[in-house]
Amino acid sequence: MESVSHEHRKFSPNADFVKNAHISGEEAYRKLYEKSLQDPEAFWAEAADELHWFKKWDTVLDDSEAPFFKWFEGSRTNLSYNCLDRHVAEGRGDKVAIHWEGEPGDARDISYAQLLREVCRFANVLKTKGIKKGDRIAIYLPMVPELAVAVLACARIGAVHSVVFAGFSADSIRDRVLDSETCMVITGDGGYRRGKMLELKKIVDEGVADCGCVKDVIVVKRGEEHPVDCPMQAGRDSWYHELVADVSDECPAEEMEAEDLLFLLYTSGTTGKPKGIMHTTAGYQVYSYLTSKYVFDLKPDDIYWCTADVGWITGHTYIVYGILQNGVTQVMYEGAPNHPDEGRFWEIVDKYKVTIFYTAPTAIRAFMKWGDHWLDGKDLSSLRLLGTVGEAINPEAWMWYHKMIGGECCPIVDTWWQTETGGHMLTPLPGATPTKPGCATVPFFGVEPAILNDEGEEVPAGILAIKKPWPGMLRGIYGDPQRFKDTYWSKWGGRYYFPGDGARRDEDGYIWILGRVDDVVNVSGHRIGTAELESVFVEHPDVAESAVVGIPHDIKGTGLIAFVTVIEGRAHDDHLRKELVGMIDKSIGKFARPDRILFSSDLPKTRSGKIMRRLLRDIAEGKELGNTTTLADPSVVETLQKQYSEA
Ligand code: PRX
Repeated sequence: MESVSHEHRKFSPNADFVKNAHISGEEAYRKLYEKSLQDPEAFWAEAADELHWFKKWDTVLDDSEAPFFKWFEGSRTNLSYNCLDRHVAEGRGDKVAIHWEGEPGDARDISYAQLLREVCRFANVLKTKGIKKGDRIAIYLPMVPELAVAVLACARIGAVHSVVFAGFSADSIRDRVLDSETCMVITGDGGYRRGKMLELKKIVDEGVADCGCVKDVIVVKRGEEHPVDCPMQAGRDSWYHELVADVSDECPAEEMEAEDLLFLLYTSGTTGKPKGIMHTTAGYQVYSYLTSKYVFDLKPDDIYWCTADVGWITGHTYIVYGILQNGVTQVMYEGAPNHPDEGRFWEIVDKYKVTIFYTAPTAIRAFMKWGDHWLDGKDLSSLRLLGTVGEAINPEAWMWYHKMIGGECCPIVDTWWQTETGGHMLTPLPGATPTKPGCATVPFFGVEPAILNDEGEEVPAGILAIKKPWPGMLRGIYGDPQRFKDTYWSKWGGRYYFPGDGARRDEDGYIWILGRVDDVVNVSGHRIGTAELESVFVEHPDVAESAVVGIPHDIKGTGLIAFVTVIEGRAHDDHLRKELVGMIDKSIGKFARPDRILFSSDLPKTRSGKIMRRLLRDIAEGKELGNTTTLADPSVVETLQKQYSEA
C-alpha cells in the first residue's frame, strides 16, 4: 500500500489550551497512554468510577471467550440514568441539554430535567405498548428532539434500538426490521430537508407492509406548519403526542446487566447484506463517556455541536450517549447546511456561541466550494476546538478549516473510528497532540494499533490492526456470530481486530489512514458496500453483470462509478440508466446513487473469472493501467477505456 501524501506541516495547540486541557501536554498523554496499555483493567475501572452503577463490576475484562469479549461483568447500570438522572441528582437539572434548531428556524431549548421527564414519559408509553427488555425497536426519525428521547427511552427500559437513517429507502427499512424482528417502529409524519418535507411515514408504511413482526408504529408530528399526508392504520399506528399526554413523567431506569444489548446499528460490509452491529451496555457506556470527555476536552461551560445525524454511529456516540453523559450543552440541528443559504451552519455557531464543532470533511469541502463570503458577518470567535470524522480529510480542506473556521487557533481533532469501534480509536488529544493536516495521529487510551502485512508482520505501511480489546468494541453481528468472526477476527488467525482500513506510520510514529482495503467506500461520509449496489443492478432483467468502484471525488471524498454489462440484444440507453438509478433509490436510498453508469459489453476478468476492479478504478480515474498480464481478454479494457473517455 502506497501513500501519496507528503504533508510535513505540524501545528501545536496554544499554551492556554494546553494549560486548561484535561490531558495537558504530550508527556501527560504518553504517561497515561502507557498506563492504559500496561494495566488496562485499572485504567478502565478508574474511568468507570466517574459514572453511576447500581452495582459495580466483578471483573473489568473477561477474555475467556475471545473474540466475544466481556467488559464490566457483574455490574448493573443504565445509560439513560448516566445521561440524565445523574445530572439532575447532582444539581444540573436546569442546565440546557439540547438547543434544538429546526430547519425552518423553529427552536426549542430542553434542560436536562425536562429531557429526563420526556424520556420517562416515552419510556412509560413503550411499557404500555407491552415493550419489554430485549425487544427490538426501529427508529426512523428526522433530527428532532424526539429522536434523542426515543433512543434514551429504549435504553431506560432495556429495549434495543435500531436507528435507521431517515435517508434510507423503504426496502432498507424492511431488511433491517426483518433481520432483527423489530416489533415497533417510531417515525415521523415528515422531516424538513432543504425546505421540503420528506414524507417519512409513507416510506415506513411501504417498508413494513409485509412485516408481521411490527405491531406498533408511533408517529411524531413534525408537519404542524406544512401538514403532510399521513394516513394512520387503525390498530397499529398512534400519535406520539397523544400517547405521552396520558402517562406519568416518572419511570425508574431498569438495572441493566453489563453485556445486555443496548443497540443495533446496521452498516455496510463487503456483501450485499448490511450487518447489524451489536453494542452492549457497560463497556460502550464507559468508552463513549471517556472518549467524549478527553477528545473534545469537554468542560461544564462548553456548547458542543456535532452536525452528524443520529442515524449514524457518530450521532449515537457523540450526540446522544457520550455527550449527554458528560452533562454539557449541545446544539442539535435538523436540516441541511445550505438552507435557507450556505451560511446556515455559521449562523448557528454564532447564535448559540458554539465552542466545539464536529463535522465531516465532505461538508468542509462543500463550504470551500460555496465560497468564503458565507462567513462574512458571522462571529465564530466562540469556537475553541474543531473536529472531523467519517473519512480522511485532505490537507487542503484541513488548512481551510484551520484558518477560516478555527481562526488559526483551534486544535483540530481528526478522529478515526467506525460503527464497530463504538468510539474514537485514533485521534489527537487537543491539548496534547501536535496535529498534521490529514492525519488521525495517535491512539486513544487503551487502544493498541499496529500496521501489518497479510502475514501479520509489522510494516511501515499496510493494513491497520487493533491488538487489544477496548470497552466500546462491537460484541457481534446480530444473528450471525460466524460472520462476526470471519469479518473481523480471521485475518490474522483470530489474534487482532481487522477494521478494513489501510494505514502508514510516519517518522513521528503518527498513523495516517490510507482508505479501505476492501470493497467498502465512504461517499460523503456515508458508508456503502459496492456489492450492495451491484446486487441491486443485477436484479434488472436486462443486466448481466455489474461492478461498482469508488474513485476520488472533490466534494464527496469518493464518487461511485458503475460498470454494467447488458444482456445481448437489450437496449442500453438513458432509459435503462434512469431505471437503474430508480432501483438504487428504492433499494438503498438516494444518497447511494452512482455518479456515472457506464454500459459495457464485458468486464475485465482474470482467467479464473474474477473481475479486476483495480483496472476499472484505473479506467475511471483516467490513469495509466496497472498490471494487465493476468487478464483473460486484454481487449476488454481497451474498449472500456475508449468508451469511458467518450462517454
Ligand atoms: O474507512 C474509515 C472511515 O470510515 C470508516 C467507518 O465508517 P462508519 O462505520 O460509517 O463510521 C463513520 C463514523 C465513525 C472507517 O473504516 N473513516 C472514519 N473516520 C475516518 C475515516 N477515514 C479516515 N480518517 C478518519 N478520521
